[in-house]
Amino acid sequence: MNILILGSGGRECTFAWKLAQSSKIKNLYIAPGNAGTAKIGHNIAIDPNDFKAVKKEVLNNNIQMVIVGPEDPLVNGIHDYFLEDNELKNIPVIGPQKHAALLEGSKEFAKEFMYRHNIPTAKYESFTQETLENGFKFLESLDAPYVLKANGLAAGKGVLILKDLQEAKEELKEMLTNKKFGDASTKVVIEEFLDGIEMSTFVLTDGENYVILPNAKDYKRIGEGDKGLNTGGMGAISPVPFADNDFLTKVEERIIKPTIDGFKKDNISYVGFVFIGLIKVNNEPLVIEYNVRMGDPETEVVIPRIKSDLVDLFIATAGKKLDKLNLEIDDRAATTVMLVSGGYPESYEKEKQITGLENIENSIVFHAGTTQNENKVLTSGGRVLAITSYGKDFREALKQSYANIEKIKFDKMSYRTDIGFDL
Ligand code: AMP
Ligand code: GLY
Repeated sequence: MNILILGSGGRECTFAWKLAQSSKIKNLYIAPGNAGTAKIGHNIAIDPNDFKAVKKEVLNNNIQMVIVGPEDPLVNGIHDYFLEDNELKNIPVIGPQKHAALLEGSKEFAKEFMYRHNIPTAKYESFTQETLENGFKFLESLDAPYVLKANGLAAGKGVLILKDLQEAKEELKEMLTNKKFGDASTKVVIEEFLDGIEMSTFVLTDGENYVILPNAKDYKRIGEGDKGLNTGGMGAISPVPFADNDFLTKVEERIIKPTIDGFKKDNISYVGFVFIGLIKVNNEPLVIEYNVRMGDPETEVVIPRIKSDLVDLFIATAGKKLDKLNLEIDDRAATTVMLVSGGYPESYEKEKQITGLENIENSIVFHAGTTQNENKVLTSGGRVLAITSYGKDFREALKQSYANIEKIKFDKMSYRTDIGFDL
């Protein structure tokens, strides 16, 4: 089978690594990919949001299935584009249609969905410039800290958590009146603050049935001890030690089942991954957010723990036969540590040569922001490499990742030394 993966990060490199292990793969393509995916399959230098270019490549290379990595092609409607095109409509796309992608593309849509289906989440209201004064009143009715969320996609920067009421009011005004996050903040969701520990659960659904993938916890802040600016994610571990069977049963009964049933009740056709960001408050799970894709770097620990053939899993997803599939999970823990460019998530330099990759033993190196230049591997992004290891528990796995990181070098390389510190 010929499969195309859309995207260029560590998540897509991990998909490529796992798909390439299947005997059912004939040709694997990654668009645009990175230096890591180039070693596994064929990179195609196109933008996943240029649907015409995607179509051309799909037809030219006789692609039989498309796996969408990031959210923006989904929010922009790539799945709908395939369904509406006579030459593409029979080629399965793993990733939901535009309407369903609103679960990630609109905070208000996601909150309304959760309320409608009685899925536990923080209390909220949403406001526009016209209802700014009501927004102030709602803030006054809440206790500090205050959670303000731009309704639309804001590259992970649209959530503000503020300690002071006056500051919260000023920020609300900035978001609504002065478009602090552009069009993403023409509407703002204000939420009650939840105090707890976060983790993520991942579900693959064919619209009728679902399988629950390994859970994970990621470390979003740039600094040790979860301080400093938010990043895409600096590391991850799977499974999450505090998610015991009792808690996971609550997650499935109160959150996963009502979510999948909710899609059916709302006539939302959903084929693909559902990433549910959870928070555990007094041993009860609540939903912080939905994403309509896999997480990054969570994928780098979740996928390596799946023993089943990923091509089989996607074929079952496309064919609405996930109920027939027996998902096999590796008992070992997996951890990943992200190596980033100095300065990230603010400005950073690129095109630094990476050395030492050939010396890595007993870890998997997933490329994120890299390019190949003749025989050199160069940095090309903020998040550069994810170093994944297995262990009997996350501590053993982390030790292995950190031991291998010692062997890798590039100018201004940086990483967190405390992944898992809070567990
Ligand atoms: P989101 O983009 O909705 O996932 O929010 C980004 C981050 O803000 C989350 O991962 C949480 O750490 C934090 N957050 C969001 N909503 C809340 C809330 N209601 N209470 C506490 N923290 C929150
Ligand atoms: N690591 C968080 C995300 O992928 O959104």
